[in-house]
Amino acid sequence: MPVAREHLEELRRLLQQADSSADYPLLAGLDLDAYLDKLLNRAEIVTIRDGERLQGFAAYYCNDLVSRVAFLSMMAVAPEARGRGIGKRLLETFLADARRRGFRSCRLEVHPDNRVARQLYERNGFVARARPGVLCLMERVL
Ligand SMILES: CC(C)(COP(=O)(O)OP(=O)(O)OC[C@H]1O[C@@H](n2cnc3c(N)ncnc32)[C@H](O)[C@@H]1OP(=O)(O)O)[C@@H](O)C(=O)NCCC(=O)NCCS
Repeated sequence: MPVAREHLEELRRLLQQADSSADYPLLAGLDLDAYLDKLLNRAEIVTIRDGERLQGFAAYYCNDLVSRVAFLSMMAVAPEARGRGIGKRLLETFLADARRRGFRSCRLEVHPDNRVARQLYERNGFVARARPGVLCLMERVL
């Protein structure tokens, strides 16, 4: 579901909540206002809700039509909603949308200490490609 500007605050809250409950740097050094603005303008954002309440979202780019490589920029699930398959559903939505648009692979970067996210990606076919800087680059061919 596309996200309108008035929903920016709930994305910000969810990200800040995820960041403060993380034992690895999730938003370190990120200008959150600029980042959210960029997502809203250029990324695809999918959300999962329980009624009105945002439970999780994934933001990804399907805009490099030359390389046809899609990129998952961010995914987060509210701490109280984790472990119920919402992350998996968001990831599957990203993969299905990228495939439908004719992309040939999907990439993402994850902190090596982010064990739950890394396992989720590995179980869904992502393979570590390189370790540029502090983040681990993972890719899945579609
Ligand atoms: C990573 C994240 C999105 C996963 O969301 P989620 O809704 O809890 O994920 P799911 O319920 O779909 O679980 C995915 C897998 O992780 C496992 N898992 C979930 N929580 C776990 C935990 N605390 N410990 C160990 N495994 C866990 C699940 O068992 C599941 O494995 P399975 O597919 O073999 O059953 C969520 O933990 C999160 O928001 N983390 C903070 C933000 C973040 O790190 N984002 C990724 C940035 S790269």
